[in-house]
Amino acid sequence: MDCDTERFAVIADIHGNADALAAVIADLRGQGVQAVVNLGDHFSGPLAALETADLLAGLDQVAIQGNHDRVLVTLAPEDMGLSDRLTHQALDARALDWLRDLPAALLLGDVFLCHGTPASDNTYWLETVAPSGAVTLAARDVIAAQIGDSPAGLFLCAHSHVARRVDLPGGRVVVNPGSVGCPGFRHDIPHPHRIETGSPAARYAIMTRTPQGWASDLRAVPYDARRMARLACRAGQGDWARVIATGWLNR
Ligand SMILES: [Fe+2]
Repeated sequence: MDCDTERFAVIADIHGNADALAAVIADLRGQGVQAVVNLGDHFSGPLAALETADLLAGLDQVAIQGNHDRVLVTLAPEDMGLSDRLTHQALDARALDWLRDLPAALLLGDVFLCHGTPASDNTYWLETVAPSGAVTLAARDVIAAQIGDSPAGLFLCAHSHVARRVDLPGGRVVVNPGSVGCPGFRHDIPHPHRIETGSPAARYAIMTRTPQGWASDLRAVPYDARRMARLACRAGQGDWARVIATGWLNR
C-alpha cells in the first residue's frame, strides 16, 4: 500500500473466518477501495485458517501481527493454547513464514498501526474492564497517554473486537474497526469479562482523509455465517458457533 494513500480500508481480527473476510473484500471493492491495512489476529480459531491465508495473499495490504499471530510463530505448539495449536497445525509453511515476517506495529506516513496499544498487543486501548466484568469506554486521558510523543495523527488499533472512534485533543483520532470474523468472546484478563457486539455482521472501517480531518466509515457487512458456525460446532467450540451465528454468546 502506498504510504500517502488518502482512502483505505482497515480490517482486523479475522480469526480464520474466511466467509466474513470474503464478504468484507467484496464490500470494500464495492466502495471503490483498493488499499487495505490489516491489524492482525488473522488465523486463530476453529474456522478456516488456510482459506483465510489464501484470501489474504490476494490482497494489496499492509499487515501487522496480533497477539495470537505472535503466539503462532514464537511458541512451541505444545506451549500454545488448544485453539492456537489447532490453527498452527492447519496452516502451511507459506502462511507461517508470512506471519513471522510481520511487524508488531508500523508507522505509515502519519498513520500508526498496532494491534492492542502502541506498547502491548494484548491490551485494549479504548476499553477498560472493571473487576465486575463490565467493559466500558476508557477515560480520555488514559487513552491519550498511550500516544506518547508519536508524530502520527491517526492511530489504528484492534484486539477488543469493538468498533469505535475516539477523538483526542489536538485533532488526533484513534479508530478500532471491530472484528471481521469474531463478534464476541470470553476473556479472563485483567478480570473475567465478555465482549458481545450483538450482531453477526463482519466489521471493518474505511478511512478517508479530508480537509477537516479523518472521516471514518465503521461498516457492518451481513454475510451467511452458517458454514463457519458449522466448522466451530464440529470442532466442539459452542461459544464460537453461537457468537458467529448471532453476535451473542449465550443465545
Ligand atoms: Fe487480539
